Formats: sequence, C-alpha cells, structure tokens
Amino acid sequence: MKPRVEVVRRGLSDVRSDGCVAFLFEGEKKLAGLPPDLQRAADADLARRGFRGERGTAMTVTAGDGASRRVAIVAGLGPRASFDAEAARLAAAAAGRRLQVERVKIAAVVPPGEENGRLTLPQRTTALVEGLLLGFYRFERFITDDARRAHRPDLIIVAAGRREQTVARAVDRAQALVAGAILARDLVNTPAGHLTPDGLAQEIRRAFRGSGVRVNVLDEQDLARERMGALLAVGRGSDQPPRLVHLVHRPKGRSRARLALVGKGVTFDAGGYDLKSQDHMADMKDDMAGAAAVAGAILALSRLAAPVEIHGFLGLVENLVSGRAYKPGDVLQTRSGKTVEVKNTDAEGRLVLADALDYARTTARPTSIVDVATLTGACAVALGPECGGLFSNNDALAGRLLEAARKAGEKLWRLPLFREYREHFRSTVADLANVGKREGGAISAALFLETFVDGKTPWAHLDIAGPAFLEDEHAFWGRGATGAGVPTLVEFGLSL
Ligand code: BES
Ligand code: ZN
Ligand code: ZN
Repeated sequence: MKPRVEVVRRGLSDVRSDGCVAFLFEGEKKLAGLPPDLQRAADADLARRGFRGERGTAMTVTAGDGASRRVAIVAGLGPRASFDAEAARLAAAAAGRRLQVERVKIAAVVPPGEENGRLTLPQRTTALVEGLLLGFYRFERFITDDARRAHRPDLIIVAAGRREQTVARAVDRAQALVAGAILARDLVNTPAGHLTPDGLAQEIRRAFRGSGVRVNVLDEQDLARERMGALLAVGRGSDQPPRLVHLVHRPKGRSRARLALVGKGVTFDAGGYDLKSQDHMADMKDDMAGAAAVAGAILALSRLAAPVEIHGFLGLVENLVSGRAYKPGDVLQTRSGKTVEVKNTDAEGRLVLADALDYARTTARPTSIVDVATLTGACAVALGPECGGLFSNNDALAGRLLEAARKAGEKLWRLPLFREYREHFRSTVADLANVGKREGGAISAALFLETFVDGKTPWAHLDIAGPAFLEDEHAFWGRGATGAGVPTLVEFGLSL
C-alpha cells in the first residue's frame, strides 16, 4: 500500500525528508519541532499571509530554492479548547492534500496537537494516519491520463521521539483500519458493469488471500439447496447468478463471543419491475456497500488479530428486469419458512437480508448479529448524508455500537422499532408484505428484518443508505464511496 508509513525515535527536525508537516492551534504561534530554516520561513509567512490555523486548513511554507528547496505544510487544528479527534483528522487530511500538490515524496510528520483530557497520543496518531491516508484516497482505476492522477508520497515518516512504541502501535492499528476502509471504497466505487455478484465474491476471495480468514462462496445451487427463496427471487432478473459469501475469522485462543456481520450486497439496484427513475438509479452501484463494509471490517479485524470469532455473510445479487425477473404480487418462500408478498420489487434489500440473516443465525449461532445495508432512502432523508441509522432489539448492543461509532468518528443515530408499525407490512395473501407505508420507511424496513431474527439473539441493523456514498467532496470521507461502517465495526469488534 502506498504510501508506506514508518515510525522513528527522532524529532521532526532530525528526519530527512523533502517536506514536513507541523500543526498549529488557531491564533497561536508555536509550531512543534520544525527545522530552524523552515521555522523562520513559517514565522514570517504565517503573519504575512494571515494564516490563523483554523480547523481543517493548511498552507505551504518554503525555504531555500533550487535543489535545496524544502517545504513545510502548516495545518490548522482550530481552537485549542475544542481540539478533538475530528479536528486532528481534518488537519491531517488538509495537510495530505498539500503534500500531493507539492508532490512531496518523503514526508515527515508528528502526531497533531497536544495531549489533553479528551485525546491521548494513540488517538492523535490514529487521527493523523487516518486523515492522511483516507484523505489521499482517489478511485483512479479508469483514469488513464497521468496528469489527472494524484501524486501521493512514497513514504510517511512519523517522528515519535521517545514514545516510539506507543506511536507505532497506533500506526499499525490505523493502517489496518485504512486497509479495510479502502477495500470497501474500491469495491463500492467499482461500477456494476465490472462487478457482478460472482465478480464481487472473487474480489473478496482475492482480498483475503493470506489473511487467515476462511472464505466460502455459495453458488446458486447451494442457495437453492438452502431454500433461500427470497434472495434467489431478487437475483432471478439478472443473467448474473447470485452468491452468498461466508467469511470466518477465528482467534488464536478461546473466544468469548461469536459475532455475525451480515451485509446487503446488491451489486446494482435498478429497482426491478418497480423500476427506479434515472436520478434514483444513477448511483445504485453503491447498493453493495453493506457487504463491502463487512468485508472491510473483517479484513481489518483479522489483521489486528481480534480475539473474537467473527462470521461475515454477504448476500450478493443484482436487481434487474427481464423475462425471468420477480414481479409485484409474487409470493416468496423465505428460508425461515415465512412467506412474503412482493408489493414492491425495489424493496429487495430486506428480502436478501431476510434469508442471509436466517442463514447467519442458524448456521453460525452467533452471540450477537449486526447487519449493514444501504436499505432505505427514507433513512438518508431522516438523518442526512453523513449519518447512519441504528436499530436494535437490545439496548446493551445498541449502546456498544453507538460508543464504537463515537470513538471511530462516525455519525450514527438510534431510531425506534415501534411495534405498532408492524401493522404496516401486513399482507392478505402471505405472512407479511415486503413494504409498509412511505412514512417511517426506515423503521418499517428494520421491523421487517427483525421478524427474521429470533427474539433471543441480540441484533442490530445499520442503515447506511446516507453515508455509504457522498456526492460532494468531503475532507477525509472523500467523494463517492466512503467506507462507511468500517471504522465503527472495527472499533466494535475490538470492544467485545
Ligand atoms: N437501495 C435502495 C435504498 C437506497 C436509496 C440506497 C438511496 C442508497 C441511496 C433500496 O433497495 C430501495 O430501493 N428502497 C426503497 C424502499 C421502498 C420501495 C419501500 C426506497 O428507499 O425508496
Ligand atoms: Zn431497491
Ligand atoms: Zn437496494
């Protein structure tokens, strides 16, 4: 992975580099550890250019010229009093963008800011590495013009001073998380024309080679044998057959918990016969972001040797129209035995998850189960583009996930499972219908899923329809696929 990150037991001014990064609290003057020549240049430049160190801003300072030209990036942390992980990540991301513009090859950096009650050295280091590496991310697979490609550094050297070991541990952890998030982003950004259900299964196989994680791919015959009538029905409209990927991470010692993560992996959601309109269909290559988040999180957790047994179940299908596609009014037999009336072929995610959740619960017998899905537009309407929705039948599990999201720097908000709304998806011809009312659509979708887990297993559902894919550029979430869910699931997996 480029750039490489190295930790050294030296100060910033003792590291050989062609660009170094220093951080500044808003309205202050002290720049930690810059070499004297750059320090002098910075002192003069900061005042002259009126750079105040506002949150998420950065500027370039140069000293010398020609072959001896050296650059320093000064990045703003905002006010000292409100310094937090978010400020640290924004500053790192801003610094990273300047490093690219300056085409710095070897960058020397320090963890941003200073320790305070809220932020420890490992947390500052994590924020630095995540901000830099996720801020560098671009999906460039199809960009052939070299001038349009980003120029990332080859090497980032973290000057840790005496606390090298602490910093090195935090760097390792952050790099594992970044690798997981980038896997998820790459998979989500890859267009559906290049990523069929089987193609996605193969990509995942490849990503996990050598990781120690077991990868088992169920094909359409296996799925038929398992009687996954709902998942198979959704996939029938496509020439590309569905798949179910089962990932298993087993810890070295005994595991106290067994976690099942279930991901919606609709590689393209045209809506089926309840066809989406052009503007709603445009980004529907992202409808496998739940599956991608589960894969990314398990990749990171396996690299970190998480001491819990973790199963991933990814339901992979394409929701299209054809002479074989499922139709409004059809009645499906789910794996659980419950029948479902299809009132809307565009509410396909919950059908895929109904079978995947049932399979996960009965085969892995997990102590808790979390599904992740770009499930409803309603959730994105309710919470906005950067925030995921959380639903759970268990307050302790919900609390842990909210805490994990907070620590990981993701927005997550719990929404209710009003049992009265179960009425909404009543059906006269089957056990239940796959859609309820328009109002409260995120809640009824979650209630539908809840009927496919037993009341005893703690279960949570993350609706990431909003944050999985962003239209506008964001400092470190980027544009397009974000890897949403990966940071939270990694933090959660490590907390068990
Ligand atoms: N994949 C969509 C949900 C979605 C919308 C994800 C926007 C990302 C961004 C899902 O399959 C869907 O179409 N849901 C319908 C449900 C409705 C038919 C009850 C929706 O949200 O409109
Ligand atoms: Zn849909
Ligand atoms: Zn969908």
